[in-house]
Amino acid sequence: MGLIHCLSLVSLLLLVHTTESTQPPFSCDASNPSTKSFPFCQTSLPIKKRVQDLVSRLTLDEKISQLVNTAPPIPRLGIPGYQWWSEALHGVANVGPGIHFNGAIKAATSFPQVILTAASFDTHLWYRIGQVIGAEARAVYNAGQAEGMTFWAPNINIFRDPRWGRGQETPGEDPLVTGRYAAAYVRGVQGDSFEGGKLKGRLQASACCKHFTAYDLDDWKGVNRFVFDARVTVQDMADTYQPPFQSCVEEGRASGIMCAYNRVNGVPSCADYNLLSKTARGRWGFNGYITSDCDAVSIIFDNQRYAKTPEDAVVDVLKAGMDVDCGSYLQNHTKKAVEQKKLPESEIDRALRNLFSV
Ligand SMILES: *[C@@H]1O[C@H](CO)[C@@H](O)[C@H](O)[C@H]1NC(C)=O
Repeated sequence: MGLIHCLSLVSLLLLVHTTESTQPPFSCDASNPSTKSFPFCQTSLPIKKRVQDLVSRLTLDEKISQLVNTAPPIPRLGIPGYQWWSEALHGVANVGPGIHFNGAIKAATSFPQVILTAASFDTHLWYRIGQVIGAEARAVYNAGQAEGMTFWAPNINIFRDPRWGRGQETPGEDPLVTGRYAAAYVRGVQGDSFEGGKLKGRLQASACCKHFTAYDLDDWKGVNRFVFDARVTVQDMADTYQPPFQSCVEEGRASGIMCAYNRVNGVPSCADYNLLSKTARGRWGFNGYITSDCDAVSIIFDNQRYAKTPEDAVVDVLKAGMDVDCGSYLQNHTKKAVEQKKLPESEIDRALRNLFSV
């Protein structure tokens, strides 16, 4: 307990050091009078209204540019670039020790691998670890030392086959324990300010339930994760693979989900409307953004041949409810999909609303 407390203080000190923006002038900054009168800058308006205003100001090309993890800036509107991909499985990653910053050594706490932490069966410990990760995430971001605030953790796939090779990232084989871990970690990271099941105030940092779903094979006897087709019965889906994700969304109120590389009963996870829109958003009340695993869109055409053309792959994932592509496939192929009238611009707007809301 003393250790965690002490590290939080270090984070706090980092926070105090840091008030400068990294790429001024941002829209909405007082120093940027050309944009600060736009409705999307009015913090008194509901997020929904602000996001609608922002999306309505973008050209089609600007919209498409925002559908990938390395989103470029839109200087015309003072919108900074954003990196959707950050990691924090057992501590904020990619801020290693030994880098000097303002006279202090900049480092994030590295907690034990999740399989060990989970073996404590201590939900409050999981929550407190999440809290430290969220505070340190906010600290290094505010210090201009992190690229983003959207962390692609926790990994809550069920670990039953040691040949997978990534079991140490997970809370183990039990759906109930894994679901409890997910909820505790996410609430800690995001900041536990919930009222009547709804997030009030702001996210401290954003967590992401991954990899959605039935993902537990990397490369085995000529079958790799890009082409693996998990055959799962309805019962096993309900008993084993989905409960952690349901808890992550319903109890953790996670603001992110990552769809997996693999197919489930023939359908690529990122192209599965039933999974992303009907189940996560519809039944579980998910209210956040959905990212692909990295290059999970390109493989739908390149490796799986599920889609007949690259444009069809783009249409499949956006219509399924995916919002951002880790990779560059959507940047390269979305314009043509719109020109071919396969993809209504409203699907792009829907994705952008989810992204900008977070
Ligand atoms: C997208 O286009 C760029 C530039 O032509 C290329 O380097 C990149 O590999 C393409 N990405 C995909 C996933 O096809």
